Amino acid sequence: MCGIVGACAQRSVEELLLNGLQALEYRGYDSAGLTLLAHQTFKTFKETGKVARLAAVLGEGTFAGTTGIAHTRWATHGKPSAVNAHPHHSHDRVAIVHNGIIENYMPLRQRLQQAGYIFVSDTDSEVIAHLIHASLAHTDSLLEAVHTAVAELIGTYGLVAIDRHQADTMVAARSGSPMVIGHGIGENFIASDQMALAALSSQFTYLEEGDIALIQPKSIAIFDDALQPVVRKQVEIDAKVSVQDKAGFRHFMLKEIHEQPHALRQTLRERLDFSNLARAAFGDQAPALLAGVEHVQIVACGTSYHAGLVAQYWLEDMAKISCRVEIASEFRYRNSIVPSNCLFVTISQSGETADTLEALRLAKKIGYQHTLSICNVATSSIVRESSLNYMMHAGTEIGVASTKAFTVQLTGLLLLTGAIAQQHHCHEAWFEQYSQALKQLPQIIENVLNVEQSIADLAEDFSDKQHALFLGRGEQYPIAMEGALKLKEISYIHAEAYAAGELKHGPLALIDNNMPVIVVAPNNELLEKLKSNIQEVQARGGVMYVFADQEVHFDCIDSMKVIRIPHCEPWLAPLVYTIPLQLLSYYVALIKGTDIDQPRNLAKSVTVE
Ligand code: F6R
Repeated sequence: MCGIVGACAQRSVEELLLNGLQALEYRGYDSAGLTLLAHQTFKTFKETGKVARLAAVLGEGTFAGTTGIAHTRWATHGKPSAVNAHPHHSHDRVAIVHNGIIENYMPLRQRLQQAGYIFVSDTDSEVIAHLIHASLAHTDSLLEAVHTAVAELIGTYGLVAIDRHQADTMVAARSGSPMVIGHGIGENFIASDQMALAALSSQFTYLEEGDIALIQPKSIAIFDDALQPVVRKQVEIDAKVSVQDKAGFRHFMLKEIHEQPHALRQTLRERLDFSNLARAAFGDQAPALLAGVEHVQIVACGTSYHAGLVAQYWLEDMAKISCRVEIASEFRYRNSIVPSNCLFVTISQSGETADTLEALRLAKKIGYQHTLSICNVATSSIVRESSLNYMMHAGTEIGVASTKAFTVQLTGLLLLTGAIAQQHHCHEAWFEQYSQALKQLPQIIENVLNVEQSIADLAEDFSDKQHALFLGRGEQYPIAMEGALKLKEISYIHAEAYAAGELKHGPLALIDNNMPVIVVAPNNELLEKLKSNIQEVQARGGVMYVFADQEVHFDCIDSMKVIRIPHCEPWLAPLVYTIPLQLLSYYVALIKGTDIDQPRNLAKSVTVE
């Protein structure tokens, strides 16, 4: 969602704040702002649109602020505008930046208005600035003022405040929205994501829920929610990933699509010990735990949810264990039954998705005893709060549309399937076949990427289309869902996915030559059924694009283009057929000229519900 960067130093911090914002921009990018502090003076700049527009108005950097806070926004309360952009101020004394949602902002706002505070924005965040200002009437300490203010907040926050009267001081607080301190030499930093500080530090301290931190150039003090000093672990992370580096690709999304063979090698590295897959892939505790598991409950959002849906087919088919998959925002707001000996699995690229995190917390509360996260960020809240973790090692994903994270999640779920199967004494012959195929997976994905040019060529057909339909059967149905999600999110073409057998129960009414129908057709036991569904579309004048196994015969007709995909094991097909669908959405969006890496209205890492 939104991104926060703050710095207090003995040098001008303007440029490093801007660089930090740029690194975070993929998280939210509808407006950005920055407040610098020097000589008891605030200088604030805010712009709608991307950080580059903010950088342009900052000009020559003549105001050498040594303390500063900056924010890139993804609007929740109040439209994207300069006025609603952060930092928010109170009486030219307090400036704050905030991630999260303050649920009780309305009564707070009314109370503050009655006390004479004037609100200039429509945001929920502005109340925080005024609350801190009101508290400063009773104390000179910014730390105490922030502590008093946050005690009144209901909702989620990661925030940083500065006081015009207190040079070289920032106070940060966390509840439900991550905050990380970057340690420097004679300067210190704070951000909502370590990546914003990667160029500045390799030593980090993550705030825990309820923590408040007093940050000055030469000191950092952390307190709990009772304002008692606490010690939090300092970790070394040397990840100087240049987020500007597209490695010659036109977009991060295309780079990340091409990184998939490497990402799969990374995720499989040191995990393919087939003598004890559970231990090699999921850690020392896993063999005993997975041996006792009788049921799997998966919870996730968006693309990660689609990975879970594929795993349901795999787990029930190959590991012979029952599995249920649910969207996190649904799971957390209904009363569900906790099956005995159930493994609760969360899937999240970022590890900070608010609904998934809250679903995990709820699961632990209602009696799930074993939790496993499949996650790409080692320091994330979901990883810290799960008992078992599968670290994806997919590398940083910058494109808002998830690509390599999805195939790596699928790989982790394939390993989970094999590990449970092995712990439950599956057939040796099957396990041997499974092991051989898994070893070949990265190479197979590399081969599939060769279809790129043929997909780029057919993307033109979609450029004037308003709608598209994706069809699949079995474990390819979630892949059709993922294909539809990718197309709508970056090309803004309305796309829906159906299990192909459902066509005749309604969607067939939509078929005409203006709505392309995309079919994923690997060579599996459902192929003949799928061919009948293709006939149904054909008979009604539909135009089809069929991604089909190169070994399968299709009669060529004018209204159907067949794109040949290298042959693979049926249960590897979800990974394999994802690749052409990712490429299709990319090339359609390229023709349409959309903002591929930062599509409208979206943000990476959805830390608000
Ligand atoms: C779509 C996409 C989103 C995310 C979803 C969950 O391309 O990226 O649907 O998959 O917001 O995010 P994570 O996996 O970080 O929990």
